[in-house]
Amino acid sequence: MNILIIGSGGREHALAWKLKQSEYCERIFVAPGNAGTAQIATNVDISITNFEELAKFADDFSIMMVVVGQEAALVNGIHDYFQGLDYLKHILVIGPCKAGAQLEGSKDFSKRFMQQYNIPTARYQTFTADSFEQGLTYLQSHSYPVVLKADGLAAGKGVVIPNSYEEAAAELQAMLQGQKFGAASSKVVIEEFLQGIEVSVFILTDGKEYVLLPEAKDYKRIGEGDTGLNTGGMGAISPVPFADEVFMEKVRTRIIQPTLQGLQSENIPYSGFIFIGLINVNGEPYVIEYNVRLGDPETEAILPRIQSDLFELFKALHDHDLQNFRLEVDPRTAATIMLVAEGYPGNYRKGDEISGLDQPIEALLFQAGTTLTEDKKILTNGGRVLAVTGLGNTIPEALQQARQTAEKITWFGRNYRRDIGFDLQ
Ligand SMILES: Nc1ncnc2c1ncn2[C@@H]1O[C@H](COP(=O)(O)OP(=O)(O)O)[C@@H](O)[C@H]1O
Ligand SMILES: [Mg+2]
Repeated sequence: MNILIIGSGGREHALAWKLKQSEYCERIFVAPGNAGTAQIATNVDISITNFEELAKFADDFSIMMVVVGQEAALVNGIHDYFQGLDYLKHILVIGPCKAGAQLEGSKDFSKRFMQQYNIPTARYQTFTADSFEQGLTYLQSHSYPVVLKADGLAAGKGVVIPNSYEEAAAELQAMLQGQKFGAASSKVVIEEFLQGIEVSVFILTDGKEYVLLPEAKDYKRIGEGDTGLNTGGMGAISPVPFADEVFMEKVRTRIIQPTLQGLQSENIPYSGFIFIGLINVNGEPYVIEYNVRLGDPETEAILPRIQSDLFELFKALHDHDLQNFRLEVDPRTAATIMLVAEGYPGNYRKGDEISGLDQPIEALLFQAGTTLTEDKKILTNGGRVLAVTGLGNTIPEALQQARQTAEKITWFGRNYRRDIGFDLQ
């Protein structure tokens, strides 16, 4: 069976790597992919939102399954587009239709959804340019810090956490009146700040039944000790020690089940991943956000721990048989470290040659912002360049394996965090 993966990050490299291990997969294509996916699959030079070309490609190459790694394709309706074409209807798309993708595509939608179905989340109100004055009044009586979120997709940059009314008012104005994030900030969610430690929980669901995947914790700040600017993610650890049986039972009954029931009540069909961003407030899980695909770099930490055949898992979704699927998980810890370009997350260097990729390495390696030149050199081509994942019996053991590999792979200005998992030990 031929599979098309949509995206170009470490996540998509990890998905291709995992699916390639399945005896059911014949050819794997990645659109647009990177230098890493080129080594194990076939890259296809089509943009993730060019549905017309993707559909034509899927038809020409007898694609039976499309795995959508990237949120923009889902929010823009790739699943609906494929479903709307008679000759592509048979394709299993892993990723929800536009209606379900609103869980990620609109923070206002997801907050309303959580409120409606009694899913624990921070208290909030939504404002638009028309209700800007009411927004200011709301901010005046609010406690600080407060959380302001642009409603739409903002590439992980749409959330600010001001410490004072003055800062918050200026931010609200920039978002609503100054269109700081364009149309994405035409609505702004203002919500209560929750104090706690975050964890990402992942399920694969057909909208009714689900399989719980290994959880992970990611590290968003550029600096060690969680300092400095936010990034797309500098590393991840799986499993997360505080997500024990008691905590996860609360997640299942208070969050996952009502989320699936809510989707059914809203008549929203769903097939794909739900990534639930949680915060643990004194042992109680609250939802920070939903995403409708896997996380990056969490995927690079959780897929190496999944021993089951990923294709068979997707097939169980297709057959509405997730309830009977027994996911085999490696009990060891995975530690993923992201190697990034100099300057990232600000203006960063590109086009530096990466050395050390041809020597024996201990850890798994997933490429992200890389490109292959005609003379077969691998150059940096993004801020987050590649991820290394170590496995071990403890966090330090897994981390040591990842670091050993990280040290061997270099280019001008290569940077990474040495303290991933520091708060979990
Ligand atoms: N209510 C909240 N309380 C505390 N921190 C929050 C809250 N909402 C978001 N955050 C912080 O901001 C980050 C980004 O928010 P999130 O809703 O995940 O937006 P996105 O991932 O789309 O940028 C979270 O990972 C968390 O660290
Ligand atoms: Mg988030």
